[in-house]
Amino acid sequence: MKHLISVFELTKDQVSDLFDLFIQFKRGRQEKLKGDVALLFLESSTRTRLSFEKACRNLGLNTYYAGAKETSLEKGETFYDTIKTLSSLGFKALVFRVPFVLFPYSAYLNEGISLINAGDGTHQHPTQGLIDLFTAMEVHGSLEGLKVLYVGDIYHSRVFRSGAYLFSMYSASVGVLGPKTLVPSDLSPFGVCCIFDSWEEAIEWADLVICLRLQEERFRENFIPSKESYFLQFGLTKDRYQKLRGFFMHPGPVNVNVDISEDVVYAEKSLILRQVENGVYTRMAVLYKLLKDA
Ligand code: CP
Repeated sequence: MKHLISVFELTKDQVSDLFDLFIQFKRGRQEKLKGDVALLFLESSTRTRLSFEKACRNLGLNTYYAGAKETSLEKGETFYDTIKTLSSLGFKALVFRVPFVLFPYSAYLNEGISLINAGDGTHQHPTQGLIDLFTAMEVHGSLEGLKVLYVGDIYHSRVFRSGAYLFSMYSASVGVLGPKTLVPSDLSPFGVCCIFDSWEEAIEWADLVICLRLQEERFRENFIPSKESYFLQFGLTKDRYQKLRGFFMHPGPVNVNVDISEDVVYAEKSLILRQVENGVYTRMAVLYKLLKDA
C-alpha cells in the first residue's frame, strides 16, 4: 500500500490492519519515521489539516504546508507537474485537499511519492470515512447488521462516498435521507439499501445517524435551498435528537441550526468530538502503513 486515494482501492484486510494500528496508536504506541511530508490544501480545512500535521509530527515526520494561493498552481502549473516537483524535492508523501478530482489517478501514482487524499471535490475523503468507521467500531464493536443512516446533502458529500462504502464492507446496512435533489440517482456503488422520505420513518430504523453538512459552496447560486426549510425537514432538531435510540456523528464543520440544532451538537448522544480526537490516530495509522517501508 503506497497511496490512499479512494476507499474503493482498500481491501477489508487493509482496513482491519489500519484499525489495529489506530487502536495501538490511541493506546500510546510510539513509532518514529524519518522524512518530509507536504500538505497541500487548496480548500479550507481545520480538523483534517491540523490532525494530519499533528499525526505527522507524532511520528517524527517533518511537515511543510502550502495553501491555495501559495503554489505555482496559481500560475497555471499542472497538478501532475506539482507532484513531480515535490518528488524531486525529496518529499516522501503529499497530503492533498483539492476542489477537483484527479483523473485518471493511475497517471499520478508512479512518481516516487505517496499520495494521500484529504478530500477531492465531491469524490472521496478516505481518512474521514475511516475515522467514522473506526469511531463506530469503538462504540458498537461488530458492525454487522448495524443500521447506519446518512442525512442531508448526500450529493455533494465525499464523506458519504467514502464512509458508506466502508460501512457496507463491514456488513452494516446503509440508509440515506435528504432532499430529493441532493440524493444521487445511483447509490449502488456505496452499498445503500434504503432511501427514506422522512425523518419519522428513518429514525425508527437507524441505530447510528451520520449528519452531513449542507455544502453551500458547491451549489450554483440559484439552487441553494432555504436554510430554514432545510433545517425543518432534514436538520437534527432537539425533538428528533430525543427520539434517536443511538449516537449521531457529523464530520464537521457543522452548520449550526442548519444541519444540527445548537441545543444538541455536543449533547450526550453526539460523537462529534470523539471523531475529531480519532482523526489524529486514524491519520497516524494511515501515514505509518504507507510510509514505514518507504
Ligand atoms: N471533516 C473535515 O474534513 O473537516 P475540515 O474541513 O475542517 O478538515
